[in-house]
Amino acid sequence: MNATQTLDGPSLVTLEERARRRTGAFGEDALIVCDSLVRIYQSEGVEVQALQGLDLLVEDGELVAIVGASGSGKSTLLSVLSGLDVPTAGRVRVGPWDLMSMTAKQRVAYRRSMVGFVWQQTARNIVPYLTATENVEFPLALAGVRRKVRAQRAAQLLDVLGVGYCAQRRPSQMSGGEQQRVAIAVALANSPRVLFADEPTGELDTATSHDVLEGLRTVNRELGTTVVVVTHDSGVSEHVQRTIAIRDGRTSSEVVRRTHTADDGTEHVVAEEFAVLDRAGRVQLPREYREALDLVGKVRLALESSHVSVWPDRPAGPTGGPAAGPGAGAGTTHGTDGQEER
Ligand SMILES: Nc1ncnc2c1ncn2[C@@H]1O[C@H](COP(=O)(O)OP(=O)(O)OP(=O)(O)O)[C@@H](O)[C@H]1O
Ligand SMILES: [Mg+2]
Repeated sequence: MNATQTLDGPSLVTLEERARRRTGAFGEDALIVCDSLVRIYQSEGVEVQALQGLDLLVEDGELVAIVGASGSGKSTLLSVLSGLDVPTAGRVRVGPWDLMSMTAKQRVAYRRSMVGFVWQQTARNIVPYLTATENVEFPLALAGVRRKVRAQRAAQLLDVLGVGYCAQRRPSQMSGGEQQRVAIAVALANSPRVLFADEPTGELDTATSHDVLEGLRTVNRELGTTVVVVTHDSGVSEHVQRTIAIRDGRTSSEVVRRTHTADDGTEHVVAEEFAVLDRAGRVQLPREYREALDLVGKVRLALESSHVSVWPDRPAGPTGGPAAGPGAGAGTTHGTDGQEER
């Protein structure tokens, strides 16, 4: 018997070792890793937990949407990922950059070379007295890129985003949607690996939003840029492979779109919704489920052979608890404090 093992099973030392090994492996291959991210704001003596142990992995080349109610922590997350804000605790890495331990100088380099941003307010993204071309060329000029290369790059980006015809126009001569597509081109000027967009469609109507989201999709497909877009647009899951919902500062569910080929060769897009089980084993039950079964406070969990069931805390009876449930006797029931009740 191994020195760290007891008759009852693995000892605390072994469990801690296992937990440490898991931490090392979490998101090793992902481009973006958020591990138990916490961001606490202090304002006028009141503490606001904007991020409450958020886990998120984004693979290189993905196009991901983040949705959630107002105040759920979406902008806080993007501020952290774009290097504008430092979280209170947790781990966050984008490519080779560890965002928790960067110096101020590294932070500037990270923001110039690794990531691009598009904000909700068009005025924050583009300079009003420059044409679309001049706006895209501006960050390239700052980076010392030659005039001819700048012009080529600007023309290429405006073309990819379908706003080549706006090249010589100033923002006041363009629609909101056109301005946001120019803003995406500006954000991509220095060829960042990741593009973050915080509500780029927030000030637009549905049809124009569609053009902007399609613009992000084209950028992802044609330039290979990884895109993370925060939006209130409920139609966003039509445009992206993965939609992640944030609730109370944590990732709560995901909708994944896959193309399914039927036996007759026809292709269908199938959207499947998943709840997110975080690294601490927490999962959020949707409100409809909680309300339908009046699940409040304590619930009983039962381990079945292929799944886990959740039962209201009511006296055991025909439908009152796991003992009478479909997996009766097959599993182990746990109280909410984690104590076993065999
Ligand atoms: N600088 C700050 N100081 C104090 N509290 C803040 C600050 N920034 C955000 N918060 C709080 O943190 C929480 C998350 O805010 P955040 O802006 O990330 O939400 P959001 O999901 O982007 O919302 P919205 O959809 O309205 O943009 C909110 O409760 C907000 O009031
Ligand atoms: Mg926001």
